[in-house]
Order: sequence, then structure tokens, then C-alpha cells
Amino acid sequence: MSKKRILSGMRPSGKLHLGNFFGALDSWVKLQDEYECFYFAADWHALTSEYENTEIIKESITDMFLDWLSAGIDPDKSTIFIQSKIPEHAELHVLLSMITPLSWLERNPTYKEQQQELTNKDISTYGFLGYPVLQAADIIIYKAHKVPVGIDQVPHLELTREIARRFNFLYKETFPLPEPILTEIPKLLGIDGRKMSKTYNNAIYLSDPPEVIREKTDQMFTDPQRARKSDPGDPKICNVFSFHKLFSPPEEVSEISHSCRSAGIGCVDCKKRMAPRVIAFLSPFQTKREYFLTHVERVEEIIETGIKKAQGIARETMNEVREAIGI
Ligand code: TRP
Ligand code: SF4
Repeated sequence: MSKKRILSGMRPSGKLHLGNFFGALDSWVKLQDEYECFYFAADWHALTSEYENTEIIKESITDMFLDWLSAGIDPDKSTIFIQSKIPEHAELHVLLSMITPLSWLERNPTYKEQQQELTNKDISTYGFLGYPVLQAADIIIYKAHKVPVGIDQVPHLELTREIARRFNFLYKETFPLPEPILTEIPKLLGIDGRKMSKTYNNAIYLSDPPEVIREKTDQMFTDPQRARKSDPGDPKICNVFSFHKLFSPPEEVSEISHSCRSAGIGCVDCKKRMAPRVIAFLSPFQTKREYFLTHVERVEEIIETGIKKAQGIARETMNEVREAIGI
């Protein structure tokens, strides 16, 4: 039996941090054996908010692909490509936009939230409202069965299913209805205790060198109730402890949990023990990144191959789509 197909994308917004790794990339890597995987850089989606700053998109694509490959996305197993190199996505987007009721888009929760949050950018555009229609095109053009995403993307996937269902109903049964694979995200906050994010300037990047990691982990917020070393701490509410849980061996995690609660270890020491774990975790990744950085022609070749393969499928689907619609 042939493998089921997976598709997912990321907006290129620079180098990836630990939050991106555990939020998406790590699960993408693990899905490669069980599924036929397609992963792409959603540069048109990036354009919906960065249309005034387009130069950062291109650089970000390269940084992002280097991170993907170094984290274990294997070009022999997965197809990786760039959205804007497959203009068929845009053609399908325009066709889907004809059958998508405006009300479906206006009630999309991410649309409303982002309108409120991104106050420094004018995103009251046609393209931004249509963001999920483009996302639906990205997914169904490959007839993907599953889409690994974070919980925030579930409404977009629901819309994708509704749009695909409507197409199948109006014209011809063409698209499978894709289902999300929800990525379990461990609780990893930024060094200031807020969500790890590039915009908050609180992220630890996969490519941060050891001294930068030490500097950042030294600054990390801990249990806010613990003012002095003699006060017992509560690892459950401490971000440093969440890091230990992910990066340190289990015996050490339970020892730290115990010493923290009994005020046997201070936060400064606790962080000093955590930093080398993160550094060691990232070391093989960084070695690979170094390799790809000095072999960019290999990276370009991988992407070219990916684009060709993706485009072959997208073209076939578009032939079916035009025939189904009758144009
Ligand atoms: N909207 C997604 C995000 O912000 C990115 C994306 C674009 C995507 N097209 C996609 C994800 C198709 C999955 C499938 O994370
Ligand atoms: Fe957090 Fe470690 Fe300090 Fe406990 S000792 S509060 S786990 S940093």
C-alpha cells in the first residue's frame, strides 16, 4: 500500500528557535518514515504581513531550509520546496476564492485576532482575508491526507476541509478532506517567561553558539516567588525546570526537582547546569548546519529537485481541477 501524504508549511521569518523546533520541525522529522512528506516555505503567506519589507523573506528562506536540513529533514524522504515557485498554488487559490463564502473568512478566529494584535502593520488587505484560502490551495493541490500543525492552525484546517468539500460537491469528487495531526508542544517559554518569539527578542536559536546560549540561559526567569536561595522553589512554575525536563537526563531532573523544593540548589547553579545540556543537544545540529552552510550548492540542488517534484503533482491536479470546473 502506498504511503499517505503529508503536507505542511512554515512562513519564512528567519532562523528557527527552540520553540519552532519543538512546535513543528521535530514532529516533521519524525513523520518522514511513515508518510510521504511535502514541506514548503510559505513565502506568499509571509508577504501578507511583510509586504513592505520583502527583502527579509528571501534571506529567511535560506536560513530556514538550512535549519530544516540540519534538524533532520531528509531530502531522500521528503520533498521540500518554495510556494512561490509553484504558481499553480495561485491559480487554485483564485478558483477556490470563487466558491468560498466571505462569511467563512470573516469569522475565522485568527483573522480577527491578528487584526487586533498586529497593530503596527496594516493588514486590512484582500490578501490577508484570503490567507486561509491560499492555505487551502497549498494543501489540497497535493491531495494531502494529513497536515501536521499547531493548535492555532486548526481553524484554518477546518476551513480547508469546508472549501474542499464544497469543491467536491459543486464540481466533482477531487480532493480528500485533510485532517490535522496536532503537534504536542512541550512548554518552553522564552528567557523572559513569555511565549518564545522572534518579536519578543527572548528566543534561543538552534544556531546560537555556546557562549550565546550560556548568556541567554543565565538571564532566564525562574520561579518568581523565590527571592533568596534559602527559599524553597517550585519547579512546576519554573521555565528553567521545563528546559531541564527536555534536555537533562531523568535522574538529574528528579534530583533538581528535589533540591529546588528543599532549597538545596540555587537558581544560578541550576541554570549553569542546564546550559551545557542545551549546548550538547544542539551540537550535532550545528555541525550539520556548518556543513550545509559551506555546501550551499547542495542545498540549492535539493530545493530545485523538490520544486520539480512538487510542480509535477500540482500540474496534474490543476488539469483535473480545470476539467472538473469546465474551463
Ligand atoms: N499558516 C501556517 C502558519 O502560519 C503556514 C502555512 C501556510 C501552512 N500554508 C500551509 C501550514 C499549509 C500547513 C499547510 O504556520
Ligand atoms: Fe527553577 Fe532551578 Fe531555580 Fe528551582 S532551582 S526555581 S528549578 S531555576
